[in-house]
Amino acid sequence: MSQIKILTIIGARPQIIKAAALSRAIRTSYSDKIIEVIVHTGQHYDDNMSKVFFEELEIPEPNYNLNVGSGNHGSQTAAMLVGIEEILVNEKPNCIVLYGDTNSTLAGAIAASKIHIPVVHIEAGLRSFNKSMPEEINRIICDHISTILFTPTLAGLENLKKEGFRTNNLPPYSCDNPVVYHCGDVMLDNSLYFATVAEQRTTILKDLQLEQGNYVLTTIHRNNNTDDSIRLNSLFGALNKISKENDTTIVIPLHPRTSKLLPKNLSISLFDEIKRNKKIKIISPVSFLEMIVLEKNSKLIMTDSGGVQKEAFFFKKPCIILRSETEWVELVACGSASVVDADEIKIHDSYNYFSQNFDLKYPEIFGNGRASEFICEKVLLHIH
Ligand code: UD1
Ligand code: UDP
Repeated sequence: MSQIKILTIIGARPQIIKAAALSRAIRTSYSDKIIEVIVHTGQHYDDNMSKVFFEELEIPEPNYNLNVGSGNHGSQTAAMLVGIEEILVNEKPNCIVLYGDTNSTLAGAIAASKIHIPVVHIEAGLRSFNKSMPEEINRIICDHISTILFTPTLAGLENLKKEGFRTNNLPPYSCDNPVVYHCGDVMLDNSLYFATVAEQRTTILKDLQLEQGNYVLTTIHRNNNTDDSIRLNSLFGALNKISKENDTTIVIPLHPRTSKLLPKNLSISLFDEIKRNKKIKIISPVSFLEMIVLEKNSKLIMTDSGGVQKEAFFFKKPCIILRSETEWVELVACGSASVVDADEIKIHDSYNYFSQNFDLKYPEIFGNGRASEFICEKVLLHIH
């Protein structure tokens, strides 16, 4: 039987994690039909932002690493574009597979579409309707030059329809005649697959002396939160206050972007207070298995991360979204999450609300945990 070659682009932490789900499906069920070539752009490069996931999630070593590293949007994306194009020309894959909305996604989409290699976009259709977010620009461009689009939620599908995507196009598909599938979320595939083993393989709760159900898990890394001193002070001010008023432990595995900006953008007095506050545990980024154990055993989650919002939902934890809007609108609509921006009062009120409300709803929004298999089937059907 003839095989197809797919070329997967990864670069940032969440993409490495998402790619694990598809790689696993290929390895276990489609290895006779699909060859996967993995290209790491090098957007994330610290061991705890990249290497740890390959080992833990059993992702094959990337065939290429562009080692692009950090930089301004233009220079970072341009370096990726040059490197990805060269690999595409040499490897001649049947399609490129892209995840989410990072600069690595954008570079892959532009490089492939310009030389007529079909783009498969996983996590298509998400919109914040806020183009000051770099991710909003990346995802809109990527969707509109894709041939196969997989939406994780129905809101994603509706957004695409509003932008003119039709759901009755007939094959053969191309970027002028794309096909859109609603398939659920590959992140749910991962959370279900790893949830049980995670607890056996990590000792993070013990290491951090955390009591089950009795701490808050927080992550903050969005550029508009970290780079804006007023917003960063407001967020950490709220965390400091909540931990003191309620004698609550708050665990914060801190993204390197935030670690670097904390000393610069927090007021000296608040930075000192945070450092002295024993209830606030700022730690280095943790592995995926450690993260899902932290999520699963938390009391509630506060985050500006897209992925962590969803994982809060998978593990049935209320989520306080530290942004002015979310792409994951279903979480808010069903009442298990609230959008509070970087507003101290709203964060505080939302914490009090979720601390007293336990009868929250977690309907099946993200599919059944088999999105990866669905994606493989459809790629095999349409890509030749
Ligand atoms: C990127 C994505 C964002 C995603 C996030 C996931 C874009 C535009 N943004 O944001 O959508 O939510 O990844 O985590 O693609 N750094 C390190 N070590 C690393 C990686 C980064 O120190 O291994 C520091 C550098 O100072 C760098 C900064 O973090 O300048 C930001 O990294 P970058 O990849 O540009 O953006 P993220 O904020 O990580
Ligand atoms: N994550 C992790 N370790 C951490 C923080 C997050 O493994 O210290 C995982 C988290 O479980 C989720 C993903 O990283 O699967 C989310 O990535 P991130 O918050 O960096 O980006 P976003 O989802 O906002 O793009």
